[in-house]
Amino acid sequence: MSPRRIIIDTAPGIDDAMAIFYALASPELEVVGLTTVFGNAYVEACTENALTLLDIAGRPDIPVAQGAAGPMHGTFSSPAGHVHGDDGQANLFLPPPTIRPIERTAAQFIVDTVMASPGEITLVPIGPLTNIALAMMLEPTLADHLAGIVLMGGNAFCPGNITPAAEANIFHDPDAADMVLGAACPVVMAGLDVTEATLMTNEQIAGLGSIPTERAKHLARIVPFYLDFHHERGRSDGIYVHDSTVVSWMIAPQHYRTEQLPVRVDCTDGISRGKTWPAHSVTDDESAWAGRPAVTILTEVDSAAVVALELERLHLPLPDRTGGV
Ligand code: BDR
Repeated sequence: MSPRRIIIDTAPGIDDAMAIFYALASPELEVVGLTTVFGNAYVEACTENALTLLDIAGRPDIPVAQGAAGPMHGTFSSPAGHVHGDDGQANLFLPPPTIRPIERTAAQFIVDTVMASPGEITLVPIGPLTNIALAMMLEPTLADHLAGIVLMGGNAFCPGNITPAAEANIFHDPDAADMVLGAACPVVMAGLDVTEATLMTNEQIAGLGSIPTERAKHLARIVPFYLDFHHERGRSDGIYVHDSTVVSWMIAPQHYRTEQLPVRVDCTDGISRGKTWPAHSVTDDESAWAGRPAVTILTEVDSAAVVALELERLHLPLPDRTGGV
């Protein structure tokens, strides 16, 4: 079977780096581009990080397009320096990458790539959903031409993380999230319901340094910073594996349980701003959920299985998708 072609929309970010390397090492997937967005750091730093990660992985051929610096409405509060480092990569302040971004916005790159291969591209956002919403506004038929959207964000049946109500990626741009979760294509929501049930242990993190790939060596340098944040928050046994969940779902869906329900996002300025609300039922048609398509919500995960899979892929050489160059 030919690999599923994906665009990863990302704000790297320590766990974004994990997800990008995992996707690149998975023969089931072909990463056709990275688009960057604000979130874990300012968008300029996120773009530098995306380019650096491709350098490290030996995939400088993959295009990177820079996207939104802030949400569709309002302003970006501030990056998560205490979680990912002020540079988004554990305060390593790495040398500049050898490659440059392309001269197109993320939204334009998404539209061009999807419309050139109708029905083939899956969007994989692991940051705020601004670029995806902007692309949908730029090309109103975009969703009709997508294979689907598999996103990390939201919390259907559990509390939030950035506030008691909301998950961080959704909170940063609730209007964009509400639009994307209502898209007329298959949408999968990998939220805190499963990502906070997916744990990479202290021992597994300590073992990253002994995996003989450049990707693993980089992760061995940055993941301990993320681990410190978890320890400060009272999680003493490891890290939540948020962003990699989208990859695990795409390559090993047998390790998850799901529910199909329409989802709306609280876009008000109240205390539950950014909360993703599933409908009571798929046919809830007398409410704010009326007419919304069902979203596949990931609800349970076999944590040990998916973390083992991710670590296994970190050992592997990358599939050669550069045409032998
Ligand atoms: C999400 O927020 C970010 O800090 C992580 O990279 C992940 O995408 C988890 O809430």
